Amino acid sequence: MRTLASRELELIRSQFAFPLRDRIVTNNAASTQPPLAVFELLRDLSETYENVHRGQSDASVRTTEMFEASFDTIATWINAASRRTLSMHRSTTEAINAAMYSLMADFRDGDNIVTTLMEHNSNYVPWHALCREILPRFGRRVECRLAQFDHETGELDLDHLASLVDSRTKLVCCTGGSNFLGTKPPLATVRAIADASAYPQPDGRRGALLLIDAAQLFASSRVDVERLDADFVAFSFHKLLAPFGVGVLYAKEALRATLPPFLYGGDMIAEGRVFPDRVEYNELPWKFSAGTPNILGVIASAQTLRLIVDMVGADAERAWFRTDDPLSPDAVDAAMEIVAGHAASLTHRAMAGLASIDGLRIYGPAAGAARTPLVAFNVDGHSPFDIARALNAQGVESRAACHCATLAHHDLGIDPPASCRVSFALYNSPEDVDRAVDAVRDAVGQSFRSRPIPSALQHSVEDVERV
Ligand SMILES: Cc1ncc(COP(=O)(O)O)c(C=O)c1O
Repeated sequence: MRTLASRELELIRSQFAFPLRDRIVTNNAASTQPPLAVFELLRDLSETYENVHRGQSDASVRTTEMFEASFDTIATWINAASRRTLSMHRSTTEAINAAMYSLMADFRDGDNIVTTLMEHNSNYVPWHALCREILPRFGRRVECRLAQFDHETGELDLDHLASLVDSRTKLVCCTGGSNFLGTKPPLATVRAIADASAYPQPDGRRGALLLIDAAQLFASSRVDVERLDADFVAFSFHKLLAPFGVGVLYAKEALRATLPPFLYGGDMIAEGRVFPDRVEYNELPWKFSAGTPNILGVIASAQTLRLIVDMVGADAERAWFRTDDPLSPDAVDAAMEIVAGHAASLTHRAMAGLASIDGLRIYGPAAGAARTPLVAFNVDGHSPFDIARALNAQGVESRAACHCATLAHHDLGIDPPASCRVSFALYNSPEDVDRAVDAVRDAVGQSFRSRPIPSALQHSVEDVERV
């Protein structure tokens, strides 16, 4: 795995505005910072600003071309068969709600949904609401079941998950990467567990549907929906260097063809095919694109992906930013390998440093295990909120909260349900990590390196830096 040399990292950092303000941005699991070139692109687009699918002007035609090409870029990025599998939303949260509303009418009395205790609230509360609030109004009782995780290792309890799945399990919902524990559940096994349900789906297929919340996974790994074989995958671009406002729901094309839309209105209907007694829907993916979409956001998101390939030098042959050319899957692979390697190396460094602080507990898998690039922790006798504020006073941006992983905090008995979290992105440097660790040490009043870094952790840092 190729990691970034310090000169490469400097060049990457020079493409962002925040380093000029001496910000140590380590709250990336919430949102990342967009490169300056993306804001420049948005400014330039103001010259040809127009709606899509709604005009014959050159401006509208060109904007439509760019908007549609963005779907293709995104499809390639996640190795989806085509743009027909995609719908654009405001966020991962809205994407998961879109899946919920599209599936809602299909649930039968006595069905169940299986999810996990390590989910972000976005992948629990919609299913809880469906089971407890929405379906009961239609006289249907559907149970929401929660799989446990190991409190020490942070790993999903696959046996427990399997024990919850039965012939009435219509849907399994699982995170691809926890935003609190950092755990990356083995999704191939989760797929197999969902398949083991004999649930008869409306299309005749047997087995539970699988929805993956890839909000964190997408930011730090190549998400390959074909390999995951998931029925739904949700993620958002503000976690991978794009501006706020665009989330994606991938759904297998066969599902898209039969499921009802989440939103009804303009552009999702076939041109001229609305009558008093019937409405015919547009072809995919526009059937799931009612109303004027976030056009600039979608274009900026897809172009940010292209810019990432250029920024990390993943394709020596050419530049991809500001083009609509079909993106090379190999370039995507290479780019995300570099992003993943860099993030893993920073995460190991942070874990090693934090582990040397007395009374500090890191949640989730041990160093060396697969992890999303974040570290959540608490320190005995210290409020995580005080730590985060003390970090901020030193220019280190972290987050103290339950990170919307409320169930997991309760399950671990963390009272109040909160932890402090630092999380890393492509532009973070080893110095950022060290400043964050030193700031935590200061915040809890411990002298520098009061406890040596455990040797096992030192190895894993070196190993990651070597690869
Ligand atoms: C695992 C996970 N799921 C869902 C979300 C929600 O994402 P969004 O804010 O784009 O709705 C987040 C955001 O932190 C997350 O980390």
